[in-house]
Amino acid sequence: MSIERTLSIVKPDGVQKNIIGKIFTRFEDNGLKIVGTKMLTLSKEQAQKFYEVHKERPFYDDLVEYMTSGPVVVSVLEGEGAVLKNRQLMGATDPKEAEKGTIRADFADSKARNCVHGSDSLENAKIEVKFFFPNL
Ligand code: CMP
Repeated sequence: MSIERTLSIVKPDGVQKNIIGKIFTRFEDNGLKIVGTKMLTLSKEQAQKFYEVHKERPFYDDLVEYMTSGPVVVSVLEGEGAVLKNRQLMGATDPKEAEKGTIRADFADSKARNCVHGSDSLENAKIEVKFFFPNL
C-alpha cells in the first residue's frame, strides 16, 4: 500500500457529543496524520452537492437536513492505505452492524446519525478532499 489521503467528517452528532478529540485520537493512534482540518456548518447547497451520488435515495433529503443541522469537522487524513484504514476505524454504516471497537459501534446512534463520514475509494477521496480543501 502507498501513502494516501482521505476525507473525514465528524458529523453534527459527533460534534454535539463532544467527541471530536476522541475520534481524532483514534486516527492518530492508528497511523493517520491530520494534515488539514476545519469546523464549519454546511449550507444546504454544499450538502446537496457533496451527497449528489445519493440524490435518488429515499434518505437524501433527511441526510441533507441532518448534515446542515449543526457544525461539522472536516479533515484530511494522510497515511499508509488511509482510505481503507479510515473505513476500518469507522466501522459499518449501521452502528448495530459495526465491529466492536470501531467509532460507529462505540459512539453512533443510528444509520442516519453515525458520527463520521469517510471517503469510500481513493478516487472519491481525491474529489472530496478537493471539495473542502482546494489547496491541499
Ligand atoms: P456517509 O458515509 O456519510 O454516506 C452517506 C450517508 O447516508 C451515510 O453515511 C449515512 O449517514 C446515510 N445513510 C445511508 N443509508 C441510510 C439509510 N438507510 N437511512 C438513513 N441514512 C442513511
